[in-house]
Amino acid sequence: ESGIPIVNDGALTVCSNVPFEPFEYVGEDGEYTGFDMDLSREIAAGMGLELEVQNASFDGLQSGTVLAANQCDLIAAAMTITPEREANLAFSDPYYDSLQSLLVPADSPAKSLEDMSGKRIGIQQGTTGETYARDNAPSDTEVIAYQTDADLFQALQAGNIDGVFQDLPVNLKHADDKNFSLAGTYSTGESYGLAAKKDGSEKLITEINAQLAEMHSNGKYQEIYDKYFTE
Ligand code: ARG
Repeated sequence: ESGIPIVNDGALTVCSNVPFEPFEYVGEDGEYTGFDMDLSREIAAGMGLELEVQNASFDGLQSGTVLAANQCDLIAAAMTITPEREANLAFSDPYYDSLQSLLVPADSPAKSLEDMSGKRIGIQQGTTGETYARDNAPSDTEVIAYQTDADLFQALQAGNIDGVFQDLPVNLKHADDKNFSLAGTYSTGESYGLAAKKDGSEKLITEINAQLAEMHSNGKYQEIYDKYFTE
């Protein structure tokens, strides 16, 4: 045994926030799938463990509540490493670089956040997209918080909001639907990390980083990457 304390015997229990395609979503077979889920499953296997996934609100994840409540060992949720979050969480090495973006209906004339003046944009509660939109949208833009990416997308479809501000890969996925298009990308220099409890997770984080490094050198990372990011 590794001597790493885990909440459920025989499993690496991971908390996530679903759906956030292509990082985490429930596939047609009813299983958790996506880039983060495959990466986590591979890490679990490398530790001789099964992967168990728990869905939680993104706010509960980024604040560290789910870890404090021993609901899971690790957060795998396309979560950006930020100094604020590092106060409550221990992050792994970065595993994916991302940007922010604005998604609008295909018939919208909007070409950027500036064009959202007097309009409503939706964001997912507690995300870096929320922070960016609140800091950078015109002062007369109404920024409306939704709990999940699914809620956001539904609101856009229903015309309750005029745009969605969210991580680029996720908005790109929605833009596959010809009724929506990207109206701008924003280089925020974000990198995702897996996260564990701030205290007492040194061994777990060391193990996760070793597994990530191994996956980079044996081609497994690339294989999973290509599965979700190469058309
Ligand atoms: N990368 C953004 C952040 O960390 C959004 C992550 C949302 N993830 C999710 N699984 N819903 O704030």
